[in-house]
Amino acid sequence: MTHALLIVSGPASPTLARRVADAMKTDVMQLEHKVFPDGETYIRFPESVAGKQVAVIQSCYPPQNKNLVDLLFILDGAREMGAKEIAAIVPYFAYARQDDAYRSGEAVSAKTNARLIEAAGASHFLTIDIPSNKALRFFKIHSENLTCMNLIATYLKTRSLESPYVLAPDDGAIPLAQTVSTTLRCEYAWFEKLRDKVTGAVSTSGKDVDLKGRDAIIVDDVISTGKTIANAAQIAKKQGAKRAIAACAHPLLTGDAEQTLRSAGVDETIGTDSIESRPQLVSIAPVLAEALRRIW
Ligand code: R5P
Repeated sequence: MTHALLIVSGPASPTLARRVADAMKTDVMQLEHKVFPDGETYIRFPESVAGKQVAVIQSCYPPQNKNLVDLLFILDGAREMGAKEIAAIVPYFAYARQDDAYRSGEAVSAKTNARLIEAAGASHFLTIDIPSNKALRFFKIHSENLTCMNLIATYLKTRSLESPYVLAPDDGAIPLAQTVSTTLRCEYAWFEKLRDKVTGAVSTSGKDVDLKGRDAIIVDDVISTGKTIANAAQIAKKQGAKRAIAACAHPLLTGDAEQTLRSAGVDETIGTDSIESRPQLVSIAPVLAEALRRIW
């Protein structure tokens, strides 16, 4: 290992870490990692990181509790070894949606996790298309929300799209839809989504948009159960869309999400390498590499 800047691959993000290291022409360190029979995890750095600027890449998708704890072990391990500076790069920041106590007595999980990441030694925190920007206010260290929507739009441009129209399935996704529609030079609109705070059930009301014969591109930060996108796709198809293409930064696709999307008429789902072992048509490595070059 020769460079002062070192990419450390968390066990949740080996593919992405390698891509970021390649983009930065720097070294990547794979850690020793194992899971004991009782579920506890073991992390070991094969070499010292003393004096280095260390960028730890560990996305915290499910199993998010394990991935978060592994991240904390890595950050603390790097600090104990004398790393000069540590950036926690967490493309999918689990628990970001619990950014406040919406019902009295709720634990504000995003706050707890921000405190833990700081306490473990991170001096920078980078994430991508965070479901709630509000969650970043809990960090006292430098924190940034990046976006991969330009990369998704650039990928979409390589596809033969029929008169595309970008849709945000809720108002939180409006900035994402704006970014994608600017690159695609097309219109965008957004739907209204209501989520029951107790049951999590989602209902969506559409806007009157003429989508006849057009490709509807539905963009969101996360696809979890798929219900948000499914509702939007059903409306889009009813309004005449020829195809419904879903695109997101974090394709969690939990449970039978893929079936939910298909049944709602989603023709294709585009995701990124924020989540290993999911459809990775777009890599977020260029965005992360650029941010790292900027901070270091
Ligand atoms: C929150 O509103 C997010 O932006 C996503 O829309 C949401 O997390 C998607 O979840 P699901 O796929 O379960 O509807």
